[in-house]
Amino acid sequence: MKIIDLRSDTVTHPTPAMREAMYRAEVGDDVFGEDPTVNRLERMAAERMGKEAALFVVSGTMGNLVALLTHCGRGDEVILGDRSHTFLFEQGGMAALGGITPRPVPNQPDGTLWLEDIEGAIREDNAHFPRTRLVCLENTHNMCNGTPLTAGYTAKAARLAYDRGLRVHLDGARIFNAAAALGVDVRELVREVDSVMFCLSKGLCAPVGSLLCGSADFIAEARRARKVVGGGMRQAGVLAAAGIVALEQMTGLLVGDHARAKRLAEGLEGIPGVEVAPVTTNILYFWLTEEVSKTPEEVVDGLAERGVLLLGRELGRFRAVTHYWISDEDIEATIAAMRATLA
Ligand SMILES: Cc1ncc(COP(=O)(O)O)c(C=O)c1O
Repeated sequence: MKIIDLRSDTVTHPTPAMREAMYRAEVGDDVFGEDPTVNRLERMAAERMGKEAALFVVSGTMGNLVALLTHCGRGDEVILGDRSHTFLFEQGGMAALGGITPRPVPNQPDGTLWLEDIEGAIREDNAHFPRTRLVCLENTHNMCNGTPLTAGYTAKAARLAYDRGLRVHLDGARIFNAAAALGVDVRELVREVDSVMFCLSKGLCAPVGSLLCGSADFIAEARRARKVVGGGMRQAGVLAAAGIVALEQMTGLLVGDHARAKRLAEGLEGIPGVEVAPVTTNILYFWLTEEVSKTPEEVVDGLAERGVLLLGRELGRFRAVTHYWISDEDIEATIAAMRATLA
């Protein structure tokens, strides 16, 4: 039985072109700055984001942590969304390892933070308070239906932060999905932020790695922070080679993943008892109405028996994520499997 794995875009395997590039990669000791393939990937990433420099890191979590450790000192505070990946799913690394306090404010359903909420969370200078140092945004917003933040919103939030002397970091794990969905160059979405992290190992199919991008000075400091968390890699060119293929060949294909997510949404919506959240990128959330007698676990298990894997999340919501290895036929098979599971 073919397995249709919609649990996440992180399940993507490298493409044949990536495997070939990895095999042939020229390598060196990257901690000495001598890996030509890593150096090339970092230059490419910086150029794509319109920033001065970039740093190759192991994961999105490491990229966000290194960014926060670089922007903030111990005792500083970071304003971020209460549904953000960094707040919910990165083990509180900023506090655990950096002595940085998270200050969550409500994420709106479209992934934005209300400007008044950001404004209200900024501390005044007072010995009782931590110092607010940074605002973090997430684009696309994983837990808010994979919604992209527009360049206009990002600029407004960033200008508010800058006017108050703060810095801005963007968790752009899926920033190329945002650019594809909005039909804009990715540079427009990150122009106003100090730093952006994006992932190669999600919809772009590379096996490992993320890039943190920003000014040359910021990245020089971030390189130190990466080393202290054990992220200095040596002959990492074998991984970077796949990342180069990801940037060259994969970003243009994301629109297809979005179209398949939309088709999946339409198909699921046609099944009695299924309600679907608005879908704009490759992340689709849905839930069951009361007329369905099955529990979420029974549905996940019933689908798995039919070869379809997806995640049951909190509050009875399910998540399905389309990616490069999911075809049009897989989408139709998933809709059929859902019908059979609920029948
Ligand atoms: C929005 C967002 N940021 C960061 C990450 C962390 O990436 P990684 O799994 O590479 O640590 C994820 C992972 O799914 C994510 O969805």
